[in-house]
Amino acid sequence: MNMLDGRLKAVKHILCIVGTRPEGIKMAPLIRALKREPWAKVTVLSTAQHRDLLDQVLVLFDIKPDVDLDIMRENQQLPELTARLITALDAKFADLSPDIVLAQGDTTTVMTAALVAFYRRIPFGHVEAGLRTHDLDNPFPEEMNRVVAGHLARWHFVPTERSRANLLREGIPADRIHVTGNTVIDALLDVAAKEWPLDVPLDPSKRLLLVTAHRRENFGEPLRAMCRAILALVERHPDVEVLYPVHPNPNVKAVANELLGNHPRIRLCAPLDYAPFVEAQKRAYLILTDSGGVQEEAPALGKPVLVMRVETERPEAVDEGVVKLVGMDEARIVAEASRLLDDPQAWRAMARGVSPYGDGKASQRIVQVLGDA
Ligand code: UD1
Ligand code: UDP
Repeated sequence: MNMLDGRLKAVKHILCIVGTRPEGIKMAPLIRALKREPWAKVTVLSTAQHRDLLDQVLVLFDIKPDVDLDIMRENQQLPELTARLITALDAKFADLSPDIVLAQGDTTTVMTAALVAFYRRIPFGHVEAGLRTHDLDNPFPEEMNRVVAGHLARWHFVPTERSRANLLREGIPADRIHVTGNTVIDALLDVAAKEWPLDVPLDPSKRLLLVTAHRRENFGEPLRAMCRAILALVERHPDVEVLYPVHPNPNVKAVANELLGNHPRIRLCAPLDYAPFVEAQKRAYLILTDSGGVQEEAPALGKPVLVMRVETERPEAVDEGVVKLVGMDEARIVAEASRLLDDPQAWRAMARGVSPYGDGKASQRIVQVLGDA
């Protein structure tokens, strides 16, 4: 049988890969949906590129990995991370011999899983396919990771028509692209339906400015500038309190603690579990971030987002006017955030509650495509 074009057998062994926190969140609804299907034998492999950040997500969604590669090392660097992932994934793919490998997004885990599946001639399904900035330096290394994974995939599950168009322009055949929405909205709607305790002492009389930042291309001076901007914002707005769950990457933690660790209205905390973080987004007045997933979730929750990056692969929410790219310049971040904090009309225009990335049924659509394969 031609592995790439032929019809697969009746019971399909699907190997679902997760490595980092966002992959856990975005793969969880799909893994759960696949496990309900009689035709699917599901194996969950955690590379544990992230350790604690991923583990808490899997606990929340009640997913126990069948295989754990325990890859994470303190302050891991990209070449050695890539090399260790390729070696470990290859041994497991040989051992498990799945019919399909599925992975989500643009991390090193995903790029290496696609590459190893390609070498082993196992069809690869790419969840959240087709996102592009067309700039290999932004975000780094994610743009490269998703281009590579995208060109190796048999199935491309794209969130929007824009991402579909990106792939068509790169010569991906139309019949391999499926517009499904983003599974992050499946996870979000599930979690956001309930109220969750937020175990951080916040002042209810203050407006909450929620901050996250972790991109590699922002390490060093851009991250320092973001932190100075946050400091300037709380100084300028006495009714604003900042909650900043700090990513455990040592390059982020050291700078955040040094520049923001000592202000009475700035709460630095460890990364929040997913449910409390969704709760924090619900309570936020404004969100400042360089995260990908937050750009998808916050609009659906009706929260204005300022993105501290020069490019985004998620232009849909920018076009809707509910997300704005503000770069990493201190003065620009202060000016744009102050405009929203000072002008209720400008704030309302960005707090409309639109969800360009999905309707909560993406996993169902992906399951349908794989079931028919
Ligand atoms: C990774 C992804 C990035 C994704 C992000 C989601 C790559 C190259 N980067 O970035 O695309 O947006 O995850 O958060 O794939 N650490 C811990 N505990 C954890 C997780 C991380 O201590 O649970 C620390 C470790 O020191 C680790 C470092 O953070 O070495 C970096 O982790 P890594 O996965 O390489 O990069 P992220 O910046 O987390
Ligand atoms: N998130 C979380 N706890 C936090 C910060 C973020 O659970 O303290 C969630 C967030 O809701 C989103 C995902 O993590 O679903 C985004 O992950 P991250 O920003 O690390 O990666 P990216 O999306 O940029 O790849």
